[in-house]
Amino acid sequence: TKSIRLAVIEGDGIGHEVVPEGLKVLRAALTPEGVEVETTDFDLGAGRWHRTGETLTDEDMEQLAQHDAILLGAVGDPDIPSGILERGMLLKLRFGFDHFVNLRPTRLAPGVTSPLADPGDVDFVVVREGTEGPYVGNGGTMREGTDLEVATEVSLNTAVGVERVVRFAFDQAEARRQKLTLVHKHNVLVNAGHLWRRIVEKVGAEHPDVAVDYLHVDAATIFLVTDPARFDVIVTDNLFGDILTDLAGAISGGIGLAASGNINPTGAFPSMFEPVHGSAPDIAGEQKADPTATVLSVALLLEQQGFADAAARVRAAVDEDLSRRAELGARTTTQIGDALVAGVSGDAAVREG
Ligand code: NAD
Ligand code: IPM
Ligand code: MN
Repeated sequence: TKSIRLAVIEGDGIGHEVVPEGLKVLRAALTPEGVEVETTDFDLGAGRWHRTGETLTDEDMEQLAQHDAILLGAVGDPDIPSGILERGMLLKLRFGFDHFVNLRPTRLAPGVTSPLADPGDVDFVVVREGTEGPYVGNGGTMREGTDLEVATEVSLNTAVGVERVVRFAFDQAEARRQKLTLVHKHNVLVNAGHLWRRIVEKVGAEHPDVAVDYLHVDAATIFLVTDPARFDVIVTDNLFGDILTDLAGAISGGIGLAASGNINPTGAFPSMFEPVHGSAPDIAGEQKADPTATVLSVALLLEQQGFADAAARVRAAVDEDLSRRAELGARTTTQIGDALVAGVSGDAAVREG
C-alpha cells in the first residue's frame, strides 16, 4: 500500500489540541484511497527547551528530512524569551528546508460571517516569500541597554530568491483568475522594492495573460478591508506577507480558519504545513481553539502530496461545517474535529450526533 511518512510537531499551546484533530481528518480523508499515514512525533518546543535547552538540533533536522512532509501546530511560549523558539525552531525549519514559498490561501466560505459589512467574493492566495527579507537574522545590537543602543535587522533580497517565488506566484495566477498583485513599498524601500518590481516585470512578460498590478503595502491594507474581492494572487516579501495574512484571516472568518504551506517546490526537502496562527497561550488547554486552520493546512498537504481528491473531500467537509456554524453553536476543538472526520467520511449520522 501507498503511505505518507509524516513528521508531526505539535509544538506549543493550542498546537497540542489542533494537531491531533488535523491528523484524524488526514487519516479519514485517505482511507478511501487505501493510503496509510505513518507518523513520527517530534518532541520540539517549550517542553524540550525547558528540559534540555535545545530548540532544534542538526540531528532533529536530519530525522525530519527523512519524511515526505511535516505537520506543525504552533510554537511560542510566554515563559520563554520571545524569539528563542520562533527563530530557533520555526524559522530554522523554514530556512533549513528552503521553504521559499509560504502559501497562504484566503477564502470567505459561504455562511461564514466576515467583520466586513460587504466583503464580496473573497478568494485569493498570498504567496509570501519564506527564506529572505528581514527574517534572515542579518543584524545585531550594539551597546545594548545603553542610551546609545543601535539595533538593526537588515532585509536580504536576492535576485534568485525573488525570482523563484515570483515564478511560483505567476504559475498560481495562471491556474486561478490570471491576476497578480505585487505588494511592496518601493517608494521607501527603494533597493529591495525595485528589485522585486523589475523581476515581476521580467517574469510577467512570459505571462501575457496575467494582469499585473502593484500596491504599496500600506495601501494594500486599505483594499484588503474595503475591496478584498479585487485580489487573486498577492506576491510579497516575508514580513509584509506575515502581516497581510493575519489581516486576511481576520476578514475571512478569523485566524482560526487560516491555513498555510511552507513549500519547497523542488522537492529537495519536505514541505511543512501549519495554521497561520500561533500557540494562543490565552486559550491553550481549554478546548477553545478552532482546528479548522490546521485541517485546511492538511488539505494543502494532501494536494502537495498528490492527493487532490482527498484534499477536495477535506475542503468540502470544512465548507459544510462552516455553513452550519450558526446553528451548531459553541463546540470544543475535539467536537469540531469529530464533525470534520464525519464529514470527510460522508457519515451524516455521526455529524448530527
Ligand atoms: P496567536 O495567533 O497565537 O493568537 C492571536 C489571537 O488569536 C489570540 O487571541 C488567540 O486566542 C487567537 N487564536 C489563535 N489561533 C486560534 C484558533 N485556532 N482558534 C481560535 N482562536 C485562535 O498570536 P500571538 O498571540 O501573537 O502569539 C502567541 C505566540 O505564538 C507567540 O509566542 C508567537 O511568537 C507565536 N506564534 C507562532 C506562530 C507559528 O508557530 N507559526 C505564529 C504566530 C505566532
Ligand atoms: C507566522 C508567524 C511566524 C512568522 C513567527 C512565529 C516566526 O507569525 O507563521 O505567521 O512571522 O512567520
Ligand atoms: Mn504571523
